Amino acid sequence: MLDEIKRRRTFAIISHPDAGKTTLTEKLLLFGGQIQVAGAVKSNKIKKTATSDWMEIEKQRGISVTTSVMEFDYRDFKVNILDTPGHQDFAEDTFRTLTAVDSVIIVVDGAKGVEAQTRKLMEVCRMRNTPVIVFINKMDREGRDPFDLLDEIEAELQIKVRPLSWPIEQGLRFKGVYNIYEGKLDLYQPSKQVVTEKVEIDIDSEELEHNIGEQLAEKLRMDLELVDGVYPEFDVNDYLKAEIAPVFFGSALNNFGVQELLDCFVEIAPSPRPVQAEERVVNPEDEKFTGFIFKITANIDPNHRSCVAFCKVCSGKFVRNAPYKHVRHGKTMRFSSPTQFMAQKKSTIDEAYPGDIIGLPDTGNFKIGDTLTEGEELHFKGLPSFSPEMFKYIENADPMKTKQLNKGIDQLMDEGVAQLFVNQFNGRKIIGTVGQLQFEVIQYRLLNEYNAACRWEPLSLYKACWIESDNAEELEAFKKRKYQFMAKDREGRDVFLADSNYVLQMAQMDFKSIKFHFTSEF
Ligand code: G4P
Repeated sequence: MLDEIKRRRTFAIISHPDAGKTTLTEKLLLFGGQIQVAGAVKSNKIKKTATSDWMEIEKQRGISVTTSVMEFDYRDFKVNILDTPGHQDFAEDTFRTLTAVDSVIIVVDGAKGVEAQTRKLMEVCRMRNTPVIVFINKMDREGRDPFDLLDEIEAELQIKVRPLSWPIEQGLRFKGVYNIYEGKLDLYQPSKQVVTEKVEIDIDSEELEHNIGEQLAEKLRMDLELVDGVYPEFDVNDYLKAEIAPVFFGSALNNFGVQELLDCFVEIAPSPRPVQAEERVVNPEDEKFTGFIFKITANIDPNHRSCVAFCKVCSGKFVRNAPYKHVRHGKTMRFSSPTQFMAQKKSTIDEAYPGDIIGLPDTGNFKIGDTLTEGEELHFKGLPSFSPEMFKYIENADPMKTKQLNKGIDQLMDEGVAQLFVNQFNGRKIIGTVGQLQFEVIQYRLLNEYNAACRWEPLSLYKACWIESDNAEELEAFKKRKYQFMAKDREGRDVFLADSNYVLQMAQMDFKSIKFHFTSEF
């Protein structure tokens, strides 16, 4: 069991759209033998029907809406990659996925540097002390000076960096990288189809001059001296404590620098870590199985109306058909066809270990954050809901289908597609999202999966804040004063719908004992 835990690496790749996350994922799968030819997943036509694009709507839009899981064996390691939706309107989905990983690889476009989405996702990593490795991609293109890039990453992502490889020129002049971690030189040969053979040369030998010329050899040695001078020596513990981010350079498209990244990653990245539950810290080595649901996807197969709940195994061994307790429902469940995920297919498994993600067929039993145990009353923490950015009233467009609509809304909210608030003043339902696209997804899915039509009505709100106070009297007074703007979330918690920043600030000033939270986990 200990060996199984130790060899697992569960992580997510995050980036701003277009930095190269999909391409890098595909190259990693190539090394894992999950696909034969690089380009197989990525070629544009296939991309639209690739494994992670499960929902019809994704096919239509060509964006990855859902989060899927890919697993493969590499050397002695079992690698679990949790894919995340690229589109920023589904950021909430990505936040939740980050609760199920033990580490993260951040892809940065070498020409564009740190972009908005990356900054936001890094915030979540920081909140959770998740170790990160940075891959600076697209070195085959003209980009920015590597030292500048590293400065920007430190400043923008608020983390210290340590380059473990170093690029020799870039763009058309790109010659390769010096792998500081292994002390070897990798020469660049553009190739989209095959895994590039490495040429390995000692940095101090004259062969360096033979390979990249005198001028570049000299520059490289100077650069490396500077790197050693500027950046502290790499200490894997600092990385594991999420205090320092190792950085690699490469070109995912050309399959360059990817294997170096993977080789280093499997060695230094953490195996499953202890997880904090409300009741206690859960250690992966604990004998008894525990796990939590961090993601639910519906209708992977449009022919069967089924959901899959993604469960992260936190401790013990998960066994097919064994009785497990669904803590929120207090009932015992058995899973006869749990699945694991490969790049192109999924298959039934008999057992799973901490770090693994299993897919549990679901017919509406699960909600995001649900815990499964061998009987223990346990509640995992750390699945926050963030205040949505956009709000709309949802209205029934077909009075004959009220039941279907309500059921659809309920299930979609269980999946975590968006957040539902009920205004306490007028009883109207409000849907809160991160972006416009989510409204479209909800409308589409209600119609296609539940046969219910909905209509959106505009609602201008600034933020939803979860409120609490030790001072019951003041809390009541506040609710009375703001009765038109008070709502309940699905757990029945009080939520204040602030229609402007000004109103929120005034409220905070007038009601000092009340805490206004922008996430629901407090
Ligand atoms: P994403 O998942 O982060 O959104 O990015 P994705 O991998 O889809 O890559 C975005 C674009 O960047 C793709 O081009 C991809 O081919 C390109 N790309 C990825 N890695 C590299 C690299 O190392 N060098 C260069 N030059 N380009 C890279 P596209 O035109 O959008 O798609 P396609 O037509 O190439 O499939």
